[in-house]
Amino acid sequence: MAEIIDGRAVAKQVEAETKAQVDAMVAAGKPRPGLAVILVGEDPASEVYVGRKIKNCAEVGIRSFEHRMPADTSEPELLALIATLNEDPEIHGILCQVPLPKHIDTGKVLRAIAPSKDVDGFHPVNVGRLSTGTGGIIPCTPLGVMKLLDTVIDDLTGLDVVVIGKSNIVGKPIAMLMLEREATVTVTHIYTENLADLCRQADVIVAAAGAPGLVRGYWVKPGAVIIDVGITRVKGEHGKTHLVGDVVFDEVQHAKAVTPVPGGVGPMTIACLLANTVQAAREQVDGTSRDSFDIDWDDLPDRSMFSKQDAERPQAASHTFEENRKASYDADWYAEASVDTDFYLHI
Ligand code: GUN
Repeated sequence: MAEIIDGRAVAKQVEAETKAQVDAMVAAGKPRPGLAVILVGEDPASEVYVGRKIKNCAEVGIRSFEHRMPADTSEPELLALIATLNEDPEIHGILCQVPLPKHIDTGKVLRAIAPSKDVDGFHPVNVGRLSTGTGGIIPCTPLGVMKLLDTVIDDLTGLDVVVIGKSNIVGKPIAMLMLEREATVTVTHIYTENLADLCRQADVIVAAAGAPGLVRGYWVKPGAVIIDVGITRVKGEHGKTHLVGDVVFDEVQHAKAVTPVPGGVGPMTIACLLANTVQAAREQVDGTSRDSFDIDWDDLPDRSMFSKQDAERPQAASHTFEENRKASYDADWYAEASVDTDFYLHI
């Protein structure tokens, strides 16, 4: 049986660490971190998400400031609110819940948030920092994925990672984070051919396609680690709805470890939002946050932009690496392999 990676338990740990950081800041006479959450309109799913974010803020001692705006709020009105929050010293993080009503340009709104307060990590300055290994705020779900992986793999160096999905908020940042850790990354998407074959070679699969049941058992090498980012609400018997992931959980029990849906990646997203808010607050209070890409290139840590000396290069955790490399494919899985492209074509 695969180890089940308990996202709820890991999220609790992350929140406990975040609470300790908040307590330490306040004890040192620094301001209590504050998060502004903007919700435009009455999307029921967004209401639930925002409610949870605010509740969890209180649990770790972060002040939250809720800004609910009607669905007919104009784009200039929303931009004006963000401009005010950007200047407010009590606000260290700003989250504008998406989706936004159709008449509002989401990209324009997200780019209006000061990069130092962009706790979603969506602003191009933060995307650029992540891509060049120069710090910044990391998007919450990808950060949560890495924290979950850290509970089951010591070192990603040299491991083959397949990311399914190339979205700006999940697939691409996950690929960047994996590259930072020296993994060999293949990013796949709806036009990728032989996806099952690519997955079968992977030591780690991150499924973020939003396609329920896409990843079947025969796609998975014995001993691989699977992170299921997909969360889709589907109708079951008697019209009852439930959440399903991109991975057929019952078929992948020959994996080393797998995240469940729900209870895997989901709880990590909010935990990482809180962690990002505290990171943003500390950087603003310490005066180390920057709102532009004005990097001091001579003062960079030796990360992905520069090749490391071999002596400094972390060695792959030999047990994980070797085990995964040597794992032979199960002949039966292969024999029965026939890719069900139905889901895949509808992503
Ligand atoms: N809508 C659903 N998830 C998110 C998120 O993580 N951030 C924002 N801003 N909106 C969302």
